[in-house]
Amino acid sequence: MKLIPVTLGDLALYEAMFGDEEYMKDLGGVQPAEKIPGILERQARCMSSDKGWVFKIIAESNDWNSETYGPFPNDDCSSWDIGSGEKVGELDSTTIVSGIPVGTVCIWTGYDEKRDVEISEIGWGILVKFQGKGFATLALKILLEKAKDSGRWGVIHAMTNVHNVASNKLCRRVGFSFIEETEMEYDGRMLPANLYTFDSTNKE
Ligand SMILES: CC(C)(COP(=O)(O)OP(=O)(O)OC[C@H]1O[C@@H](n2cnc3c(N)ncnc32)[C@H](O)[C@@H]1OP(=O)(O)O)[C@@H](O)C(=O)NCCC(=O)NCCS
Repeated sequence: MKLIPVTLGDLALYEAMFGDEEYMKDLGGVQPAEKIPGILERQARCMSSDKGWVFKIIAESNDWNSETYGPFPNDDCSSWDIGSGEKVGELDSTTIVSGIPVGTVCIWTGYDEKRDVEISEIGWGILVKFQGKGFATLALKILLEKAKDSGRWGVIHAMTNVHNVASNKLCRRVGFSFIEETEMEYDGRMLPANLYTFDSTNKE
């Protein structure tokens, strides 16, 4: 698996995530199509200006447990563009990455209004057709190792909708500690949430 910076070329991937009812069900519902380019633009700018990390997750054939999930879906992917699936993605004139874009992971500096302090926050998402195959677990492990190595993010906060079974399991699986039930704001919508933290200064 590779984590590759999100760029403005990733609109199809963003449309496949933010425009999908099943994907957005615990995030308050789909985003209107006209808002999705703006979401991508903000996230790509966040990455390119190094204000945060916004990566797309590229799954490779060795990330795939074919005994459990069947053959790596090469046929399915030969005509992919970034969102509907791409076997080989051209990232810039010098970098060619082989694999399939399956979602995104990010860490950014957010704001805790209750405590009036800046905090590090983390988010994740896997395209519905690739969910339940261990990709989020693997991507988060890689991202959290990167965060530990960088020494940049301190205590990382994760907020997940209390009804988001997969995200709540994921938090515990990759080593987050449950802190409290609270509310989270997602695009102006208030959702019941669990707050977890991960101390990236802990080198164990
Ligand atoms: C949350 C999400 C990223 C999980 O991705 P994934 O690649 O399917 O996760 P994994 O395959 O690594 O599985 C992680 C855990 O969730 C469980 N899980 C995955 N899908 C599940 C489902 N639909 N129902 C119940 N549990 C599920 C897995 O069994 C695993 O638990 P385990 O460690 O006890 O075995 C994915 O469901 C998603 O993108 N959802 C939409 C976007 C979203 O809600 N993002 C989170 C914002 S906080």
